Amino acid sequence: MSMYDLVIRGATLFDGTGAAGRPADLGLRGDRIAAVESALAPAGAVALDARGLAIAPGFLDVHTHDDFAVVLHPEMGFKVQGGVTTVVVGNCGMGAAPHAQARGFAAAFHPGLPLPEWDGYAGYLDHLDAAPASCNVAALVGHGAVRAAVLGGDARAPSDAELDRMRAIVREGVEAGCVGFSTGLIYEPGKYAQSDEIVALAHEFAASGGLYATHMRDEGAGLLDSVRESIAIGERAGVPVQISHHKASGRENWGKVRESLRLIEDARARGLDVTADQYPYTAASTVLAAVLSVLEGGGAIGSGRAEDIQLSSAPQHPEWEGETIAALAARWGLSPLDAARRVLDAEGIAATVVLHVMCEDDVRTVLRHPTTMIGSDGLPTLRGKPHPRLYGTFARVLGTYARDEHVLPLETAVHRMTGFPARKFGIEGRGELRPGAFADLVVFDPARIADIATYQDPHHPPAGIAHVFVNGAQVVRDGAHTGARPGRTLRRS
Ligand code: ZN
Ligand code: CU
Repeated sequence: MSMYDLVIRGATLFDGTGAAGRPADLGLRGDRIAAVESALAPAGAVALDARGLAIAPGFLDVHTHDDFAVVLHPEMGFKVQGGVTTVVVGNCGMGAAPHAQARGFAAAFHPGLPLPEWDGYAGYLDHLDAAPASCNVAALVGHGAVRAAVLGGDARAPSDAELDRMRAIVREGVEAGCVGFSTGLIYEPGKYAQSDEIVALAHEFAASGGLYATHMRDEGAGLLDSVRESIAIGERAGVPVQISHHKASGRENWGKVRESLRLIEDARARGLDVTADQYPYTAASTVLAAVLSVLEGGGAIGSGRAEDIQLSSAPQHPEWEGETIAALAARWGLSPLDAARRVLDAEGIAATVVLHVMCEDDVRTVLRHPTTMIGSDGLPTLRGKPHPRLYGTFARVLGTYARDEHVLPLETAVHRMTGFPARKFGIEGRGELRPGAFADLVVFDPARIADIATYQDPHHPPAGIAHVFVNGAQVVRDGAHTGARPGRTLRRS
């Protein structure tokens, strides 16, 4: 009988603080790390030989749309087999409550799957406590859901009474332990909100320390004004700011990330807590409905080129998946806009697209910057051809960008997906490997780790991720899911 349930021996340990890797053994007891020492060799301990491998804190995916996947696909293989042990849900203004609005979002990503009932964010988190996923879940309150519940699709500011009702919905999320408030200001109905409304609602999180995460109004020509608006909202509301999927969208805007990064630096120099997240790809992804409404309004998604817009999920017409709008338009003898309308008429909200709108240089510039943490923004449409970021984000940062391209050191890359986001999102006891911390761990081969998912063939977990533990329980063994579902809800107190 040992004082440890498991000893992981011989790995190079990246502790999540950004410190360089060092040889260390890890002793686990129950759901915690009990010891981090060199040459831990108690008699009788069950040992996992990890010589030649690296061990790191489990990755925190701070930008997900897994609100309903953790309920409907609780094994979450597309995340945990990629090393993710915690997902932050509720991004881009979507969210798990109120339930009537949540059902609409769930229908987009999981068409045909009925959603269990719950009441508010408290009910959602209670549901997950009773029927856990394989990973931990922290939730944001989504502004779009709040606005839709009170104002429907109205393109106007709320009255005082309406704003009070919206505040009450947000407060329910604060009290349930949500970690912040998100907006999606290109989407219906989030785009109708002016700064004042967002400030009033985000302010509900000021006392708890929750943050404001935003899919900004414009990531193209208006990128810099959008960053300014985001920072001003955080400052006025008294909450930290998280800029979601930091990028410059569209050829004519490439390079602007240097200026948007400078705006973030300036805000930080003034004492504001402003950071961002990023997925490491030159293509974006969203629902076709949002793209079409921007194009119809005379705006541009990226360059607005139909050949850059690739259909990723069309459940009624899988033969369209992987095709560009330009190719469909040519086949049908329609204008690109009419071809997109035809797809939307046939598929509705379940039509999602991949948008090839960024440049490699910007991806690297943002990734190199110390204010950037990693978030997949994966759309968990398990049929069709979802953007490969759903599976490959973290492995791609560690393999392609850290090891192969030297964009950032491996220990820094690990920090950007562990200790850094844990601190920003107020997730305690996770993100760093030290005695007393929760045993959320990834054991990977730093020489082999690589994303395998591609745009045409995305449904593959990365290579080189051997073992994953969540709260001390093994959810991935030799790359395969064990079926364990030890995830917890992480509530902000
Ligand atoms: Zn977004
Ligand atoms: Cu998103």
